[in-house]
Amino acid sequence: KNIEVVVVKDAQEGGKKAFEYVKQSLEEGMKVMGLATGSTPETLYTELRNSDLDFSNVTAINLDEYIGLPGDHDQSYSYFMNENLFKAKPFKETHIPNGLASEEEETARYNKVIEDHPIDLQILGIGTNAHVGFNEPGSSFDSLTRKVELTEETIEANKRFFESADDVPRYAYSMGLASIMSADKIMLLAYGENKAEAVANAVNGPVTEEVPASILQKHKDVVFIVDEAAASKL
Ligand code: GLP
Repeated sequence: KNIEVVVVKDAQEGGKKAFEYVKQSLEEGMKVMGLATGSTPETLYTELRNSDLDFSNVTAINLDEYIGLPGDHDQSYSYFMNENLFKAKPFKETHIPNGLASEEEETARYNKVIEDHPIDLQILGIGTNAHVGFNEPGSSFDSLTRKVELTEETIEANKRFFESADDVPRYAYSMGLASIMSADKIMLLAYGENKAEAVANAVNGPVTEEVPASILQKHKDVVFIVDEAAASKL
């Protein structure tokens, strides 16, 4: 196995374990941290908020944002990050794609942000179809930040946060798989039975663009923190 897998009891314990890795990275001089949204990193962010760790010298770079949602929309990833982390823990700078900006300008701008700030530690969740960020199955391993169309499976999975599936944006800006792979260290978090298949395919399956997270097998320093349910198919 190329991917180190740490199995924890549940999301609570996962948050604590992930916190230890973040703390260690900070102690080792982390300057740029790649951040993820979704429900999975919430327990980590709670640990970070409640800690005395200082991020005022760290630049935060988020993976993705829905296209069409203003940053103050309560389902935008910008809003999520402010509420779950940035209000309580000031960072030196925070970067997240602007869901209202035009495609050409925004993808070029964001790729430059990533180029100018090499990521020391990238946090990831994983979709039930093994997407990371919003890199859906079929995404090129060479991809950079771009506009992506969400799959029906992702829209279904994310509709719980909206009034109906019709309200879920169809497109997003997402950091690409090549940008994610350029991070020095990667920590992927996954909890719950509905992630078990994606985790198993990513860790043990063939490296294929049909399973975006499988590219992580090629990374030199990656850890998966998964609960027992998400580890059940390993
Ligand atoms: C979303 C995000 C991903 C996230 C994934 C899982 O669509 N773009 O970054 O990892 O889906 O979400 P959750 O953690 O809520 O299961």
